[in-house]
Amino acid sequence: MSTLVTGIGELVTCDGTGEGGIGTRVDHALVVEDGRIAWVGPASSAPAADSVIDVEGRCVTPGFVDSHAHLVFAGDRSAEFAARMAGQSYDGGGIGVSVDATRAADDATLRAALAARVAEMRAQGTTTVEVKSGYGLTVADEERALQLAAEVTDEVTYLGAHVVPAEMREDRAGYVDLVAGEMLAACAPHARWIDVFCEPASPHAFTGDESRVVLEAGREAGLELRVHGNQLDHGPGVQLACELGAASVDHCTYLSGADVDALVDAAATTSATLLPGVEFSTRSPWPDARALLDAGVSVALATDCNPGTCYSSSMPFVIALAVREMGMTPSEAVVAATRGGARALRRDDIGRIEVGARADLAVLDAPNHLHLSYRAGVPIARTLEV
Ligand code: NIG
Ligand code: FE
Repeated sequence: MSTLVTGIGELVTCDGTGEGGIGTRVDHALVVEDGRIAWVGPASSAPAADSVIDVEGRCVTPGFVDSHAHLVFAGDRSAEFAARMAGQSYDGGGIGVSVDATRAADDATLRAALAARVAEMRAQGTTTVEVKSGYGLTVADEERALQLAAEVTDEVTYLGAHVVPAEMREDRAGYVDLVAGEMLAACAPHARWIDVFCEPASPHAFTGDESRVVLEAGREAGLELRVHGNQLDHGPGVQLACELGAASVDHCTYLSGADVDALVDAAATTSATLLPGVEFSTRSPWPDARALLDAGVSVALATDCNPGTCYSSSMPFVIALAVREMGMTPSEAVVAATRGGARALRRDDIGRIEVGARADLAVLDAPNHLHLSYRAGVPIARTLEV
């Protein structure tokens, strides 16, 4: 079964050519066969196909790759957001509120909430999402979160080391042992990735040494590594992620010159994933995306959709923030939200429109990709179902 997608106003391939690697084409069409892109070329020489989708002058892009999200949770923390807007700062303490609500929720409730969040993402053009555990923090609750996540994505991340839960507060070492021992053994079969909230500036999160123990145990158990680092202050997360060969270190809000150097040296292995929805929602300084790009760091953009620091599932919102507040060009931001996210997930079958890639596509109610940031807040992007 083949489908010709034609009438494309601007085709955004993210093939690495052109400004920021955006690789735009005009008067182009593509053919999808068995879920893969089988042909891309001038519309005038398009081959025949079993069916035709005419997008009537709209822009077609790779579906967004949201490489960082926490979608398995219950409860509401909107009051915490309002308090922050009134001046309170974020230190990770609110995670415990979501842990209590998530533990108390039954499977059906969590499954329905997760499905609704994934549907919300797809409706805005996201075709791949990474989903973390981290609001269970017992062996059974973390395993349950990962099993639910695996129902909606292949990119499942074990985040037992999100915070030290209240009942273990007096025994941090015991909790690290649990996360790197019995909990890891139960969770590893359900996950591809292991992540840790490496943030000594938070009394709830983990030091560099604790994070290293967890990540090394995860790697031993066959998981690949990701790190939350340098969100609330300067810290060891970036350097640890680069040293251990993590696929990505996420947030990167507070970086020293040495951190940037480490990210440049590790660019073939480790991406810096920027999450500007978090800076928006916590009233924090913006990461210096311009400096990272100019230095040669691999940069990705993701939502970090979660109940605390950013309850937005919108990649277009993230793109607009990156352009307006972080010095990225509109093209660089789109590439970081597609091919950049794919790279942060070590995937080369998504995030680009080239022959052989998955036919994960987004369509914009707009003539070109500039509109994603130009028309901020307007729901112009959606997944193109082929
Ligand atoms: O990526 N920083 C740690 N974890 C999430 C926030 C989780 C929460 O506050 O519930 C983040 O920002
Ligand atoms: Fe996060």
